[in-house]
Amino acid sequence: MTDLLSQPLTLPCGAVLSNRFGKAPLTEGLADEHNRANERLVRLYRRWSEGGAGLLVSGNVHIDRRYLERPGNVAIDGNGGLEWIKAYAEAGTSAGNHFWMQINHPGRQGAVTRDGTFPGPSAIPLKVPGRPPFETRALSEEEILEIIRRFAFVATTARECGFTGVQIHSAHGYLLSSFLSGLSNTRTDAWGGSLPNRARALLETVRAVRKAVGPDFPVSVKLNSSDFQKGGFTNEESVEVVRWLGEEKIDLLEITGGNYEELPWLEDVKPSTKRREGYFLDYAKRMQAVATMPLMITGGMRTRAGMEDALRSGGMDVIGLGRPMCVDTDICKQLLSRESNSAISYESALPVDPLVIAAGATPAEAKALEMWTNLVWFFVQIWRLGDGLEPQRDMTALEAYRIYRETEDRQTAALAPLDPPLRVAT
Ligand SMILES: Cc1cc2nc3c(=O)[nH]c(=O)nc-3n(C[C@H](O)[C@H](O)[C@H](O)COP(=O)(O)O)c2cc1C
Repeated sequence: MTDLLSQPLTLPCGAVLSNRFGKAPLTEGLADEHNRANERLVRLYRRWSEGGAGLLVSGNVHIDRRYLERPGNVAIDGNGGLEWIKAYAEAGTSAGNHFWMQINHPGRQGAVTRDGTFPGPSAIPLKVPGRPPFETRALSEEEILEIIRRFAFVATTARECGFTGVQIHSAHGYLLSSFLSGLSNTRTDAWGGSLPNRARALLETVRAVRKAVGPDFPVSVKLNSSDFQKGGFTNEESVEVVRWLGEEKIDLLEITGGNYEELPWLEDVKPSTKRREGYFLDYAKRMQAVATMPLMITGGMRTRAGMEDALRSGGMDVIGLGRPMCVDTDICKQLLSRESNSAISYESALPVDPLVIAAGATPAEAKALEMWTNLVWFFVQIWRLGDGLEPQRDMTALEAYRIYRETEDRQTAALAPLDPPLRVAT
C-alpha cells in the first residue's frame, strides 16, 4: 500500500513539498522589544526543521509594529534586524524542508497597540467574555491600500531573506478575515457590503503579494471554512472565496475556522465533547469541490488513520499539525517512520485548575478563561523550546498561566517606542 503521508506534493508554482505534513503556524512570542527575530527563534526553528515535516509555516509575522497580536511578535516594517530574519529562515530550512512566513495584521483582535487604537474594517469592537472591549476604529481606504503594500513588502523581504514561501493570514478573525465577515465589516464603500466587496481586501493582498514575489514562489492563504457565528462569514461564502482564490493561482490553501469570539478548535478540547477527528473536515469537503489549488487541513488531526482518510477520501493534500508540534517536535518523523500511529492531544488531558477561573466569573467568562488557559500551556512549551529546554509535559495549567502572564506583562512593558520609525510602504 502506498504510504500517502510520505508522498511528495508538487505545488502549482513548481515547488515540491517532500511529504504531506505541514507544521501549522504557531505564534512564538519570542521576538525582542523591537519585534526583531533573535537566537531563540533560530533555536526553535532548527528543532522544528529536524522534526520531519515537509512544510513549516512560521507563526504570524506582522506588517506594522503598531498593531500586534502579542508583544513578542516578529514584525518587519523598517525595524532592522534583517540578519536575524535570514538566520531564522536558514534555521527553519536546515533539514531541507520548506519554510514559509505567515504574514498578518491583527486588526481589531490585536492585544498590543503602540498608538492606542485597534483598526478594523468598521468601528465594531471585538466581544470576548471577560475582556474589556478595545476601542476599534474603521480604517480609511488609504490605510487599507497601505496595508496591502505592507503585505507585499514583507513577502518580498521574506523571499530575499531565504524563506521559501509565504502565507497570508486571512483566518481566525484577524484583519483580512474580519473584512470577510458581515458582523465585523459593515462598510458601505468598495470594501464592504456584498461578498465580492468584503473579499476585496484579501484578493487585492493576494494579487499584490504574487506580483511582488513572482510566479515561481509559493503563496498560500489561511482561510476560515466558516466563522461559526450567526451573521458571520459562512461556509457557503467561504466556498465562493475559494473559487476566486483559484483564479489567483495560489499554491496552498490552509483550511481552519472560527475567531476569538467563537473558536471551535479551542472549545473542542475535552474528549467527551470531541465529535471526531478533524474539526473542519466536513466544511473543507465543500470547499474541495470547487478548489483548484492543493488544500491543507488543520485542526484536531491526530491519528494516522484519520490523516490518511483525509488525504484519500477527503481530497486533502497536506495535514496541518499545531499543538502536537509544541511538545513532540519530531512527531511527523515518528508518524512517517511508523514509530508512532498518532499524535497526542495534550489539550484534552490538561487539567484546568479551578483557581484560574476567577471568582465571580459568569459561565461565559469562565469558559473563555478555561479555553485561554488551555492555549497558554502551549505558548509556554514553545518558549521552553526557544530557550533550548525540553518541553515540560507535566506542567499544570495554573503554572503555565502564571509564566504566561509574567512573561507577557514584562514583554509589553519593555516594548520599544517606534524607533527606528515605521517604513512607509510604497
Ligand atoms: C500556541 C498556538 C499559537 C498559534 N498561533 C497561530 C498563528 O500565529 N497563526 C495561525 O494561523 N494560527 C495559529 N494557531 C492555530 C494553529 O495554527 C491551528 O490552526 C490550531 O492549533 C488547530 O490545530 P491543532 O488542533 O493541530 O492544534 C495557533 C495555535 C496555538 C495552539
